[in-house]
Amino acid sequence: MIRAGIINVTGYAGIELARILKNHGEINLVGVTGRSMAGQNLDEAFPFLDSMNMPILEEDALEGVDIIFSALPHKASAEACVRHLEQGSRVVDISADFRLKNVDEYEEWYQPHPAPTYLEEAVYGLTELHRKELTDAKLVANPGCYPTGAVLGLAPLAQAGLIQSDVIVDSKSGVSGAGRTLSLTVHYSEVNENVSAYGLDGHRHYPEIVQELRDASPETPWRVTFTPHLIPMTRGILSTIYLTPNDGEFSFDESGKKRLQELYQEHYRNEPFVRVASSPPQTKQVYGSNMTLVYPTMDFRAGRIVVVTVLDNLVKGAAGQAIQNMNVMYGLPENQGLEGLAIYP
Ligand SMILES: NC(=O)c1ccc[n+]([C@@H]2O[C@H](COP(=O)([O-])OP(=O)(O)OC[C@H]3O[C@@H](n4cnc5c(N)ncnc54)[C@H](OP(=O)(O)O)[C@@H]3O)[C@@H](O)[C@H]2O)c1
Repeated sequence: MIRAGIINVTGYAGIELARILKNHGEINLVGVTGRSMAGQNLDEAFPFLDSMNMPILEEDALEGVDIIFSALPHKASAEACVRHLEQGSRVVDISADFRLKNVDEYEEWYQPHPAPTYLEEAVYGLTELHRKELTDAKLVANPGCYPTGAVLGLAPLAQAGLIQSDVIVDSKSGVSGAGRTLSLTVHYSEVNENVSAYGLDGHRHYPEIVQELRDASPETPWRVTFTPHLIPMTRGILSTIYLTPNDGEFSFDESGKKRLQELYQEHYRNEPFVRVASSPPQTKQVYGSNMTLVYPTMDFRAGRIVVVTVLDNLVKGAAGQAIQNMNVMYGLPENQGLEGLAIYP
């Protein structure tokens, strides 16, 4: 059994890690930490985590584990991750601290980096794109929830060099994407029956999307507009991606659309957690599951490709993908502990 620990089990991503790990089968969850609930029992603090009868610890009391999942906010997460790396644990960091390879880019979007020397060795844990690098990784930077849906929607065309550099990603997220910390923007009466765009001057997930596009096609001068929206639901992200193919690559008719869809089918043929949908997907179809549904189609009139993706921000967008990455790191079946279907309706 692999001895695992969770840092910050009092946040949404940490709670979700505990829920999924409970029935993993190859994991012995030896400790969890949480600042505000230290001293309480996990299954008393969160009664739905039934029979997870273990004390919530102070962060520095957790040691001697094979793998740590950190679900702290950025900056605090890097500091905790480094402590555990230095103790010899492998680490999957769900925060943004090790996602951007370029320290200047990180410091432009976040703050001075607490541990820049670890950026080079960190593996960007979008499993479908970086599976080979994960096998030996000591430090995995779990991707952001928006970039996961955006990049999975873009990768088949970007890697094949079939699209022009202009990319528009229009995303809608449920409120749990903002975490459990209270603020006016997530207040019930502000969110309920309301929809709003935010991050129009630049959202922190933008450089992650561009980094992965550059990785897919370094010679393309990518011009990405990414606009997130907050909508009144608990979980889920739907991204609608607008693309223009290179001249002559696709005909804008039923046969071009069929070719596009076959290209996605082929690209994701062996992926356990990406399915090419046969009709426009909905967030409820992935609620609570680690699946991403991808639907490529065409706007014949405008001559554009449109790709719709959906995922659960707390599962494939956070805890589920972290566990998928751990499975790859330890040579376990990639779907171990992650076979649960979505809850519908
Ligand atoms: N929510 C998502 O959909 C999602 C998706 C992907 C990645 N992430 C990332 O996952 C991490 C956790 O996100 P979340 O949504 O689970 O957050 P969250 O629910 O807002 O959890 C935040 C909690 O972290 C604790 N905390 C804050 N600062 C701390 C510090 N300096 N030291 C120790 N504990 C501290 C606080 O818990 P106490 O009350 O116990 O002090 C706070 O309530 C973040 O880095 C986030 O960017 C989140």
